[in-house]
Amino acid sequence: MKRTVLLNPGPVNVTEHVRQALLKPDLCHREKEFSDLMQSIRSKLVRAFGIQNDYDAVLTTGSGTAALEMAVSSCLGEGQSLLVIRNGVYGDRIAAMAEAYGFNIRCLDTPWGVPPVLDDVEQALKQNPNIEVVALVHHETTTGLLNPVHEIGQLVRKYKKRFLVDSISGLAGDALDFERAGVDLCVGTANKCLQGLPGVAFVLVRKTELTRLEKIPERSHYFNLVKNHQAQEKGDTLFTPAVQIHYALDAALDELLEETVKGRIQRYRQAATMLRKGFREMGLEFIVPEEHGSNTLTALKLPEGVTYNGLHDRLKAKGFVIYAGQKKLSESIFRIANMGDITLEEFRRLLDALKNCLSASTPS
Ligand SMILES: Cc1ncc(COP(=O)(O)O)c(C=O)c1O
Repeated sequence: MKRTVLLNPGPVNVTEHVRQALLKPDLCHREKEFSDLMQSIRSKLVRAFGIQNDYDAVLTTGSGTAALEMAVSSCLGEGQSLLVIRNGVYGDRIAAMAEAYGFNIRCLDTPWGVPPVLDDVEQALKQNPNIEVVALVHHETTTGLLNPVHEIGQLVRKYKKRFLVDSISGLAGDALDFERAGVDLCVGTANKCLQGLPGVAFVLVRKTELTRLEKIPERSHYFNLVKNHQAQEKGDTLFTPAVQIHYALDAALDELLEETVKGRIQRYRQAATMLRKGFREMGLEFIVPEEHGSNTLTALKLPEGVTYNGLHDRLKAKGFVIYAGQKKLSESIFRIANMGDITLEEFRRLLDALKNCLSASTPS
């Protein structure tokens, strides 16, 4: 089978061990074997991040957005407000989701790729006492910006608010100290830096937070966090889960536990450092200053005369899939993620291929 190297930010290339896990025997989700599998995943997730004493994992079948919807729809008490700190597509998504549920929201915006100003966050918290929950995207995949999750989390704690973090593209790729950031609800997915396959996502919820969440009226039947948690605590699921994807996630978590989150972050950082050196040598321009960049994605300006589609197709013919910019950035940038089971040798070959494609398409 010809290998395509995926440089999109998920779904990622997985190991053979994870892929083979899909071929385990057919299984009814109401049997003990599935219950054991689910509990194994829930327990490995919290152990991998060293948060087993204070957090529970709640799984849902679906993409990352499904788990995000479970967290957002379940997090806000009646008459309270949600503060969304936004600087990209995924911050906008949280606000759009909250709007769809009819929530009171306040948004604190900075331009895409620009981190929020801490003083502005503090002012917003001071001036709006009815803010109950603050939502932030850890790694804004739109631009590759790493938001200051720990500093914002400390402000959230100072004002006694709850902190909801979308770390769908951050978890296991960039550091997140749950205690230091005071995270109450953290959203993640199987198919990015965890190196599983798409179809299962999860919320890591602080156990003490569950008592508050239980008092919130049910707003979504499928995505109610408390009800899903209660069922999963009993080893049950409310609905039919993507069974085979759970097998793959369980295998991926064994690999993560072996590599350790710290080790994986280091591996990704090493790849990003090597790639960025190569990009600089090619004269490519970054859209986020390197000191604010994540370990896992680099957004680059398309050089004069190079179209995304042309570059994408030439690289794809060489076995590499790159990723377009979103919305207003769709014509001006391209993105290269370095998540997943990709070797340094493959990244070196990518740099060579990119260099060749760019010199063939830019006027000399
Ligand atoms: C930060 C962030 N949030 C949410 C999502 C949505 O995840 P999904 O496409 O799995 O629903 C993504 C996807 O890339 C993301 O990067």
